[in-house]
Amino acid sequence: MAKKVKIVEVGLRDGLQNESTILTIDQRFQLLKKLLNSGVTYFEIGAFVSPKWVPQMAGTEELVRKYLGSVPSAILNKVNPSVLVPNEVGMRKAVENNLNEVAIFISSTEAFSQKNINCSIAESLERVKTVIAMAKKHKIKVRGYLSVCFGCPYEGEVSEKKVVELAKTIYKMGCYEISIGDTIGIANPLQVERIFKKLMKVIPASKLAGHFHDTRGLALANILTAYHLGIKIFDSSIAGLGGCPYAKGASGNVSTEDVVNMFHQMKIETGLNLSQLVETNMWLSGIIKHALPSKVSRALNG
Ligand code: HMG
Ligand code: MG
Repeated sequence: MAKKVKIVEVGLRDGLQNESTILTIDQRFQLLKKLLNSGVTYFEIGAFVSPKWVPQMAGTEELVRKYLGSVPSAILNKVNPSVLVPNEVGMRKAVENNLNEVAIFISSTEAFSQKNINCSIAESLERVKTVIAMAKKHKIKVRGYLSVCFGCPYEGEVSEKKVVELAKTIYKMGCYEISIGDTIGIANPLQVERIFKKLMKVIPASKLAGHFHDTRGLALANILTAYHLGIKIFDSSIAGLGGCPYAKGASGNVSTEDVVNMFHQMKIETGLNLSQLVETNMWLSGIIKHALPSKVSRALNG
């Protein structure tokens, strides 16, 4: 059987949330269509967070309506869009907009939790409980993110025990997949090996994902390390867009093109079309007002 990995495209959310260029709804929709044409099936379409906190994600409801109203049903049935929700207000919007999947997010450190969502970890878990109860009632799948698992911009070193405990907690609460976040791109392969080995003792590898930002250029090395341990789900962002508005210095997620190129070179399937992703990168470079970090896109376009 062919080897394969699942790539979760987060460019429309994690990518755009930290760009100073704010895309119009139409541009976000164009990007969405290009991603679907590249074979993307798992993706975040945006976030139902406060527009005062993250103005880049304002209009996500309109984008969802546009997507549900105009993408052919043959495609709609094959793809899995998700929206990031921080609380009951966001979850209500997911229900009203007929989404089948949402993502919740909590932090491994108290300081990052306060900066990102203005509450303690314990309070965020209470919010998650409410969100999951609503999701169950409406048969909506919930993915869970755990942030700053490898280092925090405010607290520095992060307790590995706490990472494992919190990941296990949100898994037991009902998240079907737990994405382990290197929010500020500070992880190294040995640390990835150590933490994922501990995580895999309490959560099956098939339910764990790697979410690596590429701030220090180690994202692909970290992904490869996790892959060799048995992790087969990775988050990435088209062109390497983005960061996190509440993690100063966090650069973009690892670029989807670079991840796809690495796996294809290793004869591991992703289901994505590299040349179409590179074309999308070129299209984005006419909109985003800084150089896009994807290495393979640069190489293929001279
Ligand atoms: P708050 O100010 O403490 O909340 O923010 P509040 O309950 O006092 O509400 C303040 C205002 O926001 C009110 O409106 C609410 O109605 C409204 P006002 O009366 O002032 O006009 N509000 C909302 N509006 C829209 N959608 C909502 C919502 N909830 C309340 N869901 C809150 C708390 C959680 C809302 C805020 O802190 C927030 O939105 N934070 C989001 C931050 C964020 O999006 N960060 C980036 C995503 S996380 C990430 O990138 C990490 C990840 O990629 C993984 C990794 O890399 O590690 C996932
Ligand atoms: Mg992120």
